[in-house]
Amino acid sequence: MSEIAGPAAAALSSLCPDDVIFLQSLPKAELHAHLNGSIPIKTILELAQQYSPSSAQTTEVADTIEKLKSGVILTEIFDFFSLMPAIYALTSTLEAVVTVTRAVLQSFLNPTGDGTESPQCAYLELRTTPRTTTHMTRERTYPATQAALIVSIDRRMSDLDVEECISLAIEMKNRGRRVVGIDVCGDPRSGDMRSFTRHLLRAKDAGLGLTVHIAESTRNTTEDSLALLSCRPDRLGHATFLSDELKALFFADIPQPGTECSSLSECFKISKRYKPCMEICLSSNLLCKTVVSLDAHHIRYYLKNDHPIVICTDDALPFRTSCLGEYSMLLAQPPLGLGLSRDDVARIAQMGMDAAFLRPRD
Ligand code: IMP
Ligand code: ZN
Repeated sequence: MSEIAGPAAAALSSLCPDDVIFLQSLPKAELHAHLNGSIPIKTILELAQQYSPSSAQTTEVADTIEKLKSGVILTEIFDFFSLMPAIYALTSTLEAVVTVTRAVLQSFLNPTGDGTESPQCAYLELRTTPRTTTHMTRERTYPATQAALIVSIDRRMSDLDVEECISLAIEMKNRGRRVVGIDVCGDPRSGDMRSFTRHLLRAKDAGLGLTVHIAESTRNTTEDSLALLSCRPDRLGHATFLSDELKALFFADIPQPGTECSSLSECFKISKRYKPCMEICLSSNLLCKTVVSLDAHHIRYYLKNDHPIVICTDDALPFRTSCLGEYSMLLAQPPLGLGLSRDDVARIAQMGMDAAFLRPRD
């Protein structure tokens, strides 16, 4: 497994060996990991070495590789997206996609490659945005109970591209390939989510799980969140800036604040029984500076309100984290962690397993 650094590493190194063994032994579900954001550093360096310097992107690739090696420092969340073109340049061939897919699956499920180290997680839903073709489910090494694919729709996609990717996902699912869900991701400033909803609902109707990156930045509007929530996703990614009004409106058991929202409520015919699982990515939020500290993190709100959550890595390559690192931040004492009890951490891990799309959905 790649070395971790930053807040996850600090939390992990503060734990006693017994706590680390406890965390390692917990069955964990990794449900929010992006393929191209999770490539082990060793693999991306190998691809960079083989990269032909004929392209105009050579300098961009070299700069990004330097950043990844020394530790990415982001001023704001939008800086994250500027890392991706260089990574895509290195993973643009079928051969490279197969290489990184193998490497990412191995890093989560068989870190040393020979089964001598326990997997980072018991179950992995890896997500990726189809580019020209989809090759992901070629990988048959890991059983269906251990790994599955989520097809990511990028917010920048045209209506036609969204339609095509959703059709592809449905078709693959119907052919018995291991596609279990649809995700909406990409730069939070782009795309009109109102035009995505009919496609997302078609995917749901076809039996695919639905997860969406939502309210990830202050630039996401209420209309944007409402459009996505109107599809009733099974899980929500980040949801950092979801307003109290929307939380009260949509989620069961969360008390309504003073604000008036009955018209929205009527408009969306909301049942209070909707309780989507929140995909929480602590290192990602801290390093993208959408959350200032663990103390201020919205995970506290969801824990307090007994709302389902799952702990995830998001993009282990730039955020230099791991499943163990993220769970360490639950158990470590403040300010390195949330200082939760082992019982609470075990309960959270179970909530994550329960939120997998693999389960027959009710
Ligand atoms: P890929 O889908 O396997 O190519 O993984 C990388 C892509 O995932 C990026 O280009 C983004 O579109 C998306 N992504 C990764 N992390 C985030 C995030 O935190 N927010 C929104 N999109 C993200
Ligand atoms: Zn993400």
